[in-house]
Amino acid sequence: MTGLTRFPSNAALSAHLSALPDLKSLFAADPARAERFCLSAAGLTLDYSKNHLTDATLALFAKLADEAHLTDRIEEMFAGKAINHTEGRAVLHVALRGSTDDAVIAEGQQVNQEVAQTLARMDDFVSQLHGGNWHGFTGKAITDVVSIGIGGSFLGPKIVTEALKPYWLNNVNVHFVANIDGAALADKLGKLNPETTLFITASKSFGTQETLTNSESARDWLQAAGARFEDLAKHFVAVTANVAKAQAFGIAAGNCFPMWDWVGGRYSLWSAIGLPIALAVGMPAFIELLAGAKDMDLHFKTAPLKANMPMLLALIGISYINYHGATSHVLLPYDHGMRALPGYVQQLDMESNGKGSHRDGDSAQHLTGPVIWGAEGTNGQHAFHQLLHQGKQLIPADFILPLTSHYALGRHHAMLASNCFAQSQALMEGKSLDKAKQELAKSGLTDQQIASLAPHKVMPGNRPSNTLLMDKLTPKTLGALIALYEHKVLVQGVFWDINSFDQWGVELGKVLGNAVLERIENTDAALDLDSSTNGLIARFRALNAKKGDA
Ligand code: F6P
Repeated sequence: MTGLTRFPSNAALSAHLSALPDLKSLFAADPARAERFCLSAAGLTLDYSKNHLTDATLALFAKLADEAHLTDRIEEMFAGKAINHTEGRAVLHVALRGSTDDAVIAEGQQVNQEVAQTLARMDDFVSQLHGGNWHGFTGKAITDVVSIGIGGSFLGPKIVTEALKPYWLNNVNVHFVANIDGAALADKLGKLNPETTLFITASKSFGTQETLTNSESARDWLQAAGARFEDLAKHFVAVTANVAKAQAFGIAAGNCFPMWDWVGGRYSLWSAIGLPIALAVGMPAFIELLAGAKDMDLHFKTAPLKANMPMLLALIGISYINYHGATSHVLLPYDHGMRALPGYVQQLDMESNGKGSHRDGDSAQHLTGPVIWGAEGTNGQHAFHQLLHQGKQLIPADFILPLTSHYALGRHHAMLASNCFAQSQALMEGKSLDKAKQELAKSGLTDQQIASLAPHKVMPGNRPSNTLLMDKLTPKTLGALIALYEHKVLVQGVFWDINSFDQWGVELGKVLGNAVLERIENTDAALDLDSSTNGLIARFRALNAKKGDA
């Protein structure tokens, strides 16, 4: 691997990393290793001792960070500089949790004031719904809220709402619909009463096909049940930066909560996009979530690299991606509530850092964002951990565990934790051929049987992981955890010299999708695309036409 060649420290880091002893030797050489490579901040503890690093590695990381002007880049974000240069936008999700100065102005708005006003409006809205004071078209109080949104307007609110289930107030039921697949909306509508259901159209752009189509179908459902057009204000609110489009849809301006160009979709759960969270757990808990993220912001801004959790996670990740060729990273939350975390971080990381050009437009000559994937533990152990233990790829892992559980159910939590800890231990220690042979010999196999079976039982070990702990999964610790991953993504983007805040790569598919839809729906349209796409459209047309005829 060539590493990050533009940095003067690159060669030294590359040579140093390839000369490091294996993990077991590192532990053997230093009895205090686990203690020394462990760090607590914002209610989280990170044990990063099971990684290929030493003090010398951290010193080289610090040099690289200086060469990348990392602290300047971070300050630029907090100061509201337009670091999303391809869209000419500031990146101020940190302002949503009160981590910026009152002097920060974006798009002519005093950011902190906008945030405070929006929080006050959210508070008011949540109180009305929780108090049973928001009524539908027949005068009945709203009991169910369906948030219609996709991508950043869905994944953040979804993971947080799910993870904070122990904090649900159950004043209203909160649901999510994202996919354009009619099954998603139909499934919800089938269980809901139009008289008592309110929809949140969550779309920064108010131009996303899936969200608009689902919202239109929800509107039709209400109208089919007797709601008049003028009743829609009782059943629809929007969160959007495009109030004009929301109004054209039929949502009154007074029912629109703001979004701003200085908040990226995948960083927006802290804004009014987080309304479903606030509705589920109440405003005080939502404010706690913001407070946890703020704690992490402060830590990120002020801690030196060697004690800075997001920076360490980012650089450890870079050491595997750019110096060892890792192309994926697995997230393993040992917490059922956090089962949607890998999917959330997938968008956060892959839409941010899945880029091929440097900020100046030159093509990047090294790997950038990894594939993020994962599942809740212990489920993953019975599905894909086999590959983590014996497959040929290097896949660094993050284990995440709340030390105490909201669900005091027998031995469950002790078992969950023991699995979590043992998996990272097994990845590191592996099993040698000799050990495998010894174990088989004890079970009474013949020499020949031992010789043929033992290689299959070998586990290479020396596989790295981080373990992230929190005393308990609370709004605050969850806020800190999510902010940790946000900042990790920013830091990696700085080292890769890419714009982590645009997403041009999603555009082509949307444009081509419209062209295909035109040809699917207008059966007289010529099939003038490539032969594969033409063939696929023809098959679709044929079957759907038959269905229509029947
Ligand atoms: O298509 C990608 C994307 O633009 C994401 O970046 C965004 O989170 C999602 O679509 C939804 O966008 P919107 O909130 O504008 O509907």
